[in-house]
Amino acid sequence: MSARIIMKLHVERRDQLDDDLVRIWLKHPLKPHLPAWSPGAHVDLRLEDGKIRQYSLTSDPQDLSRYAITVKRENDGRGGSSWIHEYLIEGVEARVSTPRNNFVLSETRSLLIAGGVGVTPLISMGQALNEKNLLYAFHFCSRRRQSNVERDLKNFCDSTLSTYVSDEPKSPRLDLVALIGSLPRDLHIYCCGPKRLMAEVKELTNDWNPKQIHFEFFSTEIDENYKPEPFNVIISSTGQTLRVPENHSILDMLRMAGHIIPSSCRQGVCGTCECVYRSGDVIHRDSVLSPDARQNRMMLCVSRARGSVTLDL
Ligand code: FES
Repeated sequence: MSARIIMKLHVERRDQLDDDLVRIWLKHPLKPHLPAWSPGAHVDLRLEDGKIRQYSLTSDPQDLSRYAITVKRENDGRGGSSWIHEYLIEGVEARVSTPRNNFVLSETRSLLIAGGVGVTPLISMGQALNEKNLLYAFHFCSRRRQSNVERDLKNFCDSTLSTYVSDEPKSPRLDLVALIGSLPRDLHIYCCGPKRLMAEVKELTNDWNPKQIHFEFFSTEIDENYKPEPFNVIISSTGQTLRVPENHSILDMLRMAGHIIPSSCRQGVCGTCECVYRSGDVIHRDSVLSPDARQNRMMLCVSRARGSVTLDL
């Protein structure tokens, strides 16, 4: 577990891609290079009120002179995108974390499925796959036509790109059943978009090897029926035992006990509070960790345990 460095970057430029879509270019005021990142990575952006939101990097990973994030204004969202659209103008300082990648690309033939602004992490991934001749196809669904985004995609994957625009009656519709049913079973699938799209892809790939199916979440899946129960946390280095009541997280209780634990989203989507555990029956409630990673790692902000869990702290 490690805290991410927060950088004070400047907004170098804004490109208004659509009424509700802006690309923001961020630069360090002094340093010529920003930390390296890989396709699919995101940064945390600190809002004025101290809250943090995650945004995928949509620039070229080879160009470390600046980062770009692309943000859709969500009028019924949690306020972060509206603040970015209104406040992050050229010259303003933005507090941005070093990049983290929870959506790591395999060096293998892959199909990309994007819905709406979920296209953002997939842009750099599609580019990287295309450069290695590993891009099987790129499917992009949106409600309105996103000409600027489509132009970016066509720059590298014109022949493998299919677009679906639901507001245009003549536009084709993505038939996921037919698409997934026709795919070679050695492909990896990367999907980011509305929950309904990701849920459908998940259902249709139920009988695939889970290691080949990848999703990027920017908000948590709330299970209304889940009833948290109290349990114990044991700190392996000291033997200290903490009780985690039903209305608190492990993260809360560790902090109350004086442990310094980095966190960001507190929703199980960013990966900042990841911790190794040594034993215990863990109830994983995050949207980040792969089935393999869950064998010995957990997210302290949302995951819980039955009985007790021993943390490698
Ligand atoms: S703080 Fe983001 S996953 Fe826990």
